[in-house]
Amino acid sequence: MRIEIKNLCKSFRGNAVLKNLNLSIPEGKISVIVGGSGSGKSVLLKHLTGLIRPDSGQIFVGERDITHLSEASLYPLRQRIAMIFQSGGLLGSLTVGENVALGLIEHKLAPRDKIPEIVKEKLALVKLEGKENEMPGNLSGGMRKRVSIARALTLYPELILYDEPTAGLDPPMSETIDDLILKLARDIKVTTVMVTHDLTSVFKLADTVNMLHEGEIIVSSSPDEFKNSKNQIVQSFIRREYHSAAVMIL
Ligand SMILES: Nc1ncnc2c1ncn2[C@@H]1O[C@H](COP(=O)(O)OP(=O)(O)O)[C@@H](O)[C@H]1O
Ligand SMILES: [Mg+2]
Repeated sequence: MRIEIKNLCKSFRGNAVLKNLNLSIPEGKISVIVGGSGSGKSVLLKHLTGLIRPDSGQIFVGERDITHLSEASLYPLRQRIAMIFQSGGLLGSLTVGENVALGLIEHKLAPRDKIPEIVKEKLALVKLEGKENEMPGNLSGGMRKRVSIARALTLYPELILYDEPTAGLDPPMSETIDDLILKLARDIKVTTVMVTHDLTSVFKLADTVNMLHEGEIIVSSSPDEFKNSKNQIVQSFIRREYHSAAVMIL
């Protein structure tokens, strides 16, 4: 599912967050979005499912401009797009299995008696076999993240949006999540958009790196070009992130 964003503008109470932003997301690839904290990365992702409406501009998802779609018309589109939120978005009062089944039930995608089998299959894909009856509160952050990915997979999405999927995870768990994102992108050829701070993830996963700065995408390039970019903002971002990663390891 390709995405084309044209001249997107969004302000919150006079605070202009996105200013005439243009971005192309190619189908079947991993596009990474980087940018400073508070630069508008999450706001940008939320525009792609209509969770936030733009002030002006166009957002083509597939062939359709979704900017003016009603909530009712967005509903079937949201079925094709999975969003993995920063928080993970699991319901603490439900078991892992019930959480994974939520989308299937909401969108009536499977008869009730088939649901356990689908849940089992998706949990196996994220290497959480047999965890159906656990409560989310008893799982590690990385496991919870994988449960939310399993839930997303039940909808057979054409587009997966990840908002900082490895934030707060230790390096081995980050690597597990990165490997999973890469495997899904390659195996099911799902178009992937990932916001991240993690330079290891950027260089391991990205087909294209897009840098958001002061409301615009200022660089859109391959990881190699990004690393070698002469752009001062890109270079200071890379230095800063390497520095904070080093601090974390110490
Ligand atoms: N729903 C909202 N209402 C008002 N301001 C918001 C809202 N969502 C985000 N913002 C503001 O937009 C800016 C960008 O936020 P965000 O996209 O979350 O940044 P990040 O790049 O860290 O993900 C911030 O200044 C934030 O306070
Ligand atoms: Mg964010």
